[in-house]
Amino acid sequence: MITLSINGEPRTLDVDPSTPLLWVIRDYAGLTGTKFGCGIAQCGACTIHIDDKPVRSCVTPASVAEGRQVTTIEGVNGGKEELHPVQQAWIDEQVPQCGYCQSGQIMAAAALLERVPSPTDADIDAAMSGIVCRCGTYPRIRKGIKRAAAAMAQTEPVETDNG
Ligand code: FES
Ligand code: FES
Repeated sequence: MITLSINGEPRTLDVDPSTPLLWVIRDYAGLTGTKFGCGIAQCGACTIHIDDKPVRSCVTPASVAEGRQVTTIEGVNGGKEELHPVQQAWIDEQVPQCGYCQSGQIMAAAALLERVPSPTDADIDAAMSGIVCRCGTYPRIRKGIKRAAAAMAQTEPVETDNG
C-alpha cells in the first residue's frame, strides 16, 4: 500500500512499493498518457515529475513517490482549463510526428522551463538529451521550447515599484 499525490489528487493504492511508478500510474491510477519505451531509463518516454523534477518512471520504485507530488502529462497544466505553455507551443509548432515520445518530451521541457526560463540551445540540448524521438522531431522540439519560453515570459507578473 502506498499513499501519494498524482496530479494534485491524493491516492492510496494497493500496490507493492517496489513496483515501478510507470505501472502504478498506468495500471493502478489509469493514466495512460505516460508511455513505456525501453524500461531501462534509456529513452525518456516515461518521464514524469516528482516534486517538479523530471524522473524516469520506468526505473523509479513507487516507494520513492510516497508522500510526494507526482505530475503526469494529464496534469502538467495544473488542472487549469488552458494548456500548459509547452503543450500550446507543441500544437503551434506541430511538434509531434507519431507522438509516442511526446509526453516525455513535454514533461522534460516543462521541467526545464521551470528551472531555466530562457534556455539557450545548449541548455535545451543538455535537458532534452536522452529523450529519444525515433521520428527525429528534435528541431521542432527546440522551436517549441523557445516558443513556450517566450509565451511564459509574457505572462509573468510585472514587478512594480511600490516604494
Ligand atoms: S521507458 Fe523509461 S526511459 Fe524508456
Ligand atoms: S514523434 Fe515519433 S517517436 Fe517522437
